[in-house]
Amino acid sequence: MRGLKDKVIIVTGAAQGIGEATALRLGDEGVTVVCADRNADGAKATADKVTAAGGRAIAVQIEVTSRDSWMAVTGQVTEQLGGIDGLVNNAGVTRDRSLMKMTDDDWATAIDVNLKGPWLGCQIAIPHMQARGGGAIVNLSSDSRWGAFGQSNYSSAKAGLVGLTRTVAIEHARHKIRANAVAPGVVKTPMVMAVPEEVRKGWMTSVPMKREAEPSEIASVIAFLLSDDASYVTGQIVGINGGSVI
Ligand SMILES: NC(=O)c1ccc[n+]([C@@H]2O[C@H](COP(=O)([O-])OP(=O)(O)OC[C@H]3O[C@@H](n4cnc5c(N)ncnc54)[C@H](O)[C@@H]3O)[C@@H](O)[C@H]2O)c1
Repeated sequence: MRGLKDKVIIVTGAAQGIGEATALRLGDEGVTVVCADRNADGAKATADKVTAAGGRAIAVQIEVTSRDSWMAVTGQVTEQLGGIDGLVNNAGVTRDRSLMKMTDDDWATAIDVNLKGPWLGCQIAIPHMQARGGGAIVNLSSDSRWGAFGQSNYSSAKAGLVGLTRTVAIEHARHKIRANAVAPGVVKTPMVMAVPEEVRKGWMTSVPMKREAEPSEIASVIAFLLSDDASYVTGQIVGINGGSVI
């Protein structure tokens, strides 16, 4: 893909799942990948896989809900790698429970990690991208943004990311910074594999392609949106869901 080589791009939640697949794909595209995760060992393992495949990567520990952590990471990356060109706000968690059983803590955790984290990331990384003359951001929304059983917290956060993504796109087009989101359906990652198999089979009845996505099938779309091949694409929410009509 055009325009990715030698760019410095931070991927949060890079220790496993979609974040790991994205780091590997970006490494293949010649990106210097910053593998960021609260799981420091996992982030390092992903960075090692990128370098073993011939790419360039560093690992950093981040807590995406913390402004101080974002400041420390963006400062370190700028000092070590010279700047920041892109950001993938991928770190996420679920705390599923039906509305009547959901606790304040379930609500706060899902909103903080899935929505406040990306908001902080955009706010703190964008000045670094402006200093480089532009950049690109991809946020991880979800089909769950339309509402999903047991996910009043997660659905609200993933719907909130639509507003965040579009607002960042509108406010920062003048700085040559594009912001888009991907909205996956069901992807084979540790987050989803924790759900019982019969429940996952039930989900497939409404998926025309009748299968879950591989993490690499999300990573390829993220790479496209970060690249110059998507130079006129901003403020979009790209569904990657095997054709589900939600
Ligand atoms: N798997 C799916 O089917 C699916 C579908 C739609 C959207 N998504 C979204 O895609 C993203 C990645 O999902 P996944 O399935 O790969 O998840 P995952 O649970 O496999 O991995 C998430 C990663 O985020 C990290 N993380 C969690 N909280 C963090 C925090 N506070 N600070 C820093 N790192 C943190 C974890 O350590 C982990 O490495 C999430 O935002 C998720 O909501 C996933």
